[in-house]
Amino acid sequence: MQVIRTIEQVRQALRPARQAGRRVGLVPTMGALHEGHWSLVDRARQTCAEVAVSIFVNPLQFGTGEDIDSYPQTEEHDLTGCAEHGCAWVFAPSPQEMYPDQVLTSVTVRRLSTPLCGRTRTGHFQGVATVVCKLLNIVLPDVAFFGEKDYQQLVVIRRMVRDLNMPVEIVGCPTVREPDGLAVSSRNAYLDADQRSRAVSISAALREAVDAVKQGAHDARRLIADAEQRITRAGPVDIEYVEVVDLDTLEAVETIDRPARMCVAAKFGRARLIDNLPLYVGGGAQ
Ligand code: PAF
Repeated sequence: MQVIRTIEQVRQALRPARQAGRRVGLVPTMGALHEGHWSLVDRARQTCAEVAVSIFVNPLQFGTGEDIDSYPQTEEHDLTGCAEHGCAWVFAPSPQEMYPDQVLTSVTVRRLSTPLCGRTRTGHFQGVATVVCKLLNIVLPDVAFFGEKDYQQLVVIRRMVRDLNMPVEIVGCPTVREPDGLAVSSRNAYLDADQRSRAVSISAALREAVDAVKQGAHDARRLIADAEQRITRAGPVDIEYVEVVDLDTLEAVETIDRPARMCVAAKFGRARLIDNLPLYVGGGAQ
């Protein structure tokens, strides 16, 4: 496995693979890699001849009050894991390499960046879209992999790629969960034992909403109220939102008469957790 720090080197390193028509997959990350990331890498390995992981803590996507300096940095662990999971390349540039000058050009995916997490994380999705656009332009993968846990991010990136005709396939991969259902996240490390046991209420509430829809429930407002109650019942929590949204537009859905997604953001102590599940209609799976 090769660890590459510069844009020029990563372009050079991947050129032969591309020229030979070997399918290149990219898994963009901010490091602190965990089971969720490994599932993306494993998925990439199944369908790509060459897999690259990027590790870059992107300053553009951190807002005021979101401390980039305390974001976990575990490079040694990350590189060992990447090697174990069969990555050929790790692209781990410095902020100076990625942003040598003041950023004058950025990517805004309007409408999709403002609901849900966009309401409190102003500028976050512009930062994400901009860095992902840069990473895709630098690595030029055939396919890039993102987790469904960050569902809004996935929708924003898909739309960016479509609107800008970027020649890359975007693959969304299912959320990896702890045995009790909690979505795996680097932010889970901030939970103390009590918060950890209560945080499972998020996935439990989502699962209950899925079951309710399977049994014929279709009133989103009712489903949201039930989910909020389920999460609050577990003890102190700061619910940022529970919403049911359209899969593509992320607009609020009132009646579940088509596939929709329930999305939750809630804070347990300093850990801001997000999760979501698809709500299917018509007796479908999940
Ligand atoms: O999901 C993440 O880790 C980041 O938002 C991403 C996609 C790597 C962009 O910095």
